[in-house]
Amino acid sequence: MVVLIRFPFPPHTSLKPLRSSARFSGANFLSTATAVKMEATSSTAGPAKDVRPGKIFVAGSTGKTGKRMVEQLLSKGYGVRAGARDVDNAGSNLPRDPNLQIVRADVTQGAEKLAEAIGDAEAVVCATGFRPSFDIFAPWKVDYFGTVNLVEACRKIGVKRFVLVSSILVNGAAMGQYLNPAYLVLNLFGLTLIAKLQAEKYIRRSGINYTIIRPGGLRNDPPTGNIVMEPEDTLYEGSISRDQVAEVAVEALQCPDSFFKVVEIVSRAEAPKRPLKDLFSSIKQK
Ligand SMILES: NC(=O)c1ccc[n+]([C@@H]2O[C@H](COP(=O)([O-])OP(=O)(O)OC[C@H]3O[C@@H](n4cnc5c(N)ncnc54)[C@H](OP(=O)(O)O)[C@@H]3O)[C@@H](O)[C@H]2O)c1
Repeated sequence: MVVLIRFPFPPHTSLKPLRSSARFSGANFLSTATAVKMEATSSTAGPAKDVRPGKIFVAGSTGKTGKRMVEQLLSKGYGVRAGARDVDNAGSNLPRDPNLQIVRADVTQGAEKLAEAIGDAEAVVCATGFRPSFDIFAPWKVDYFGTVNLVEACRKIGVKRFVLVSSILVNGAAMGQYLNPAYLVLNLFGLTLIAKLQAEKYIRRSGINYTIIRPGGLRNDPPTGNIVMEPEDTLYEGSISRDQVAEVAVEALQCPDSFFKVVEIVSRAEAPKRPLKDLFSSIKQK
């Protein structure tokens, strides 16, 4: 028997059109992004130009992937607002850098507070993930509602660019991967992958300019192979270094070919090394 469960959106999350604002170098970022995207897909257009927001809010900056994102963003000259639940702890773990501000941000505490934390950032990168605890609802609180809260915070203050780290196999059921051990294990505690899939759906319906990155199993060690990027619902095994996940997220911020796309990534020793831009442009979104 198939049971269909409808996941209600919280009451404060009606999907109104995004407010326009002058955050992106005096222009409307979404319009700019859409224009660039249209240019990129037009047969007569030249190559899409990079668009580069100046300051980035990183949610989950104290995590193993989030910290790498902060480091890579700073090394590329971005300003960073690093969201952390424990600011003191984050301060002792993140690099000391004049372009880094650490701000308190608990994604379960609602869009209002998150909007303050995002502040003057022009884009949000989300690398949060629930911390294992006895709370069976933790994945829903963090990986679903937390992400919804971040999107709503963006909508409140006119931030129009959102990069999410999700996971391969989030849509495992639709891919016929019900019995894939990874799908079973990850859903065993709190339906983690299902919570992440619902968050993805929310983002995609919100109108925000998103890139959803679904990595395979995450490794702490430096990259041993090259990145393989595939469209949504195609990869069901493989792993990747967190360094490479951070690289893909940082590249997405400035690469119009990543806009409004869901990509799945793993690394493989035998794969050819290709520029991330080319990988993004090779993905055709459904
Ligand atoms: N592990 C894997 O193999 C794998 C595979 C595919 C995808 N992923 C996904 O990839 C992402 C990154 O994974 P990771 O292993 O690098 O992460 P991680 O090290 O577990 O870090 C999780 C981050 O989320 C933050 N967080 C947790 N609850 C929060 C809350 N209520 N408000 C704000 N921040 C909160 C943590 O902050 P604190 O430091 O304050 O706890 C931490 O910064 C996650 O979404 C994960 O599900 C993981």
